Amino acid sequence: MKVSIVGGTGAFGRALAARLRDLEFDVAVGSREHQRGWERGVELGVRGGSNEEIVKGADLIILAVRSNATLDTARELGEAIGETPVLCVASDLLFTERGIMPGRDERSLAEELAETIEAPVASGLQSISAVELAANELPDQDALICGDDPRAKEPALELAGKLVGGRALDAGPLANARALEAMTAVILNVNKQYRAHAGLRLTGVPVK
Ligand SMILES: NC(=O)c1ccc[n+]([C@@H]2O[C@H](COP(=O)([O-])OP(=O)(O)OC[C@H]3O[C@@H](n4cnc5c(N)ncnc54)[C@H](OP(=O)(O)O)[C@@H]3O)[C@@H](O)[C@H]2O)c1
Repeated sequence: MKVSIVGGTGAFGRALAARLRDLEFDVAVGSREHQRGWERGVELGVRGGSNEEIVKGADLIILAVRSNATLDTARELGEAIGETPVLCVASDLLFTERGIMPGRDERSLAEELAETIEAPVASGLQSISAVELAANELPDQDALICGDDPRAKEPALELAGKLVGGRALDAGPLANARALEAMTAVILNVNKQYRAHAGLRLTGVPVK
């Protein structure tokens, strides 16, 4: 599977690219700047270039730019992305004095993304940190993926299953990205409170 990581120069994108490279995926990392994407690619031993360049020919695009740039980036790349499936890993969060909170009252970023581009969209991996992806052991987590369109959900589930020690689980329609994105706020608060690296594991689901 050819996987292109838009914003692949960031903490999450780099950790994901390295993990996928080790799993022998054909990976590319992108940046707003061709040169930066190319250099990160060389460092990581994967392909690299501008976001616009690397989305072409991909089987799955992972949109991993800074969360608040997700929709603008998707708008800018809409034509280049075309109908290539996209996995949205972003969470809209508010960092306040009371703690970290969901940044939205209603619809998720992923649902808005699906309305912004032609491509089918799935959502997931929000609870898997860059630090855990970069560790030697696979994260002791399940990966929950939701989406309305199997063209995005199926490759996202296939990829997610290789990134965690637990299972890749189909978490239903894209509207459930509201829960996945908001859960990131819960996990980050727990991590802060208990100096932990908390993750998601659902009980009562048959082992893979
Ligand atoms: N960090 C984690 O542990 C983690 C875990 C799960 C999910 N996620 C999600 O993964 C995504 C990336 O997280 P991150 O921590 O890697 O973020 P990040 O390092 O802050 O940013 C990732 C990349 O986004 C690009 N970027 C920054 N501002 C931009 C803008 N205004 N327009 C377009 N691109 C911009 C930058 O690439 P260039 O400057 O090279 O263009 C940057 O390297 C987020 O949606 C986050 O919620 C992160």
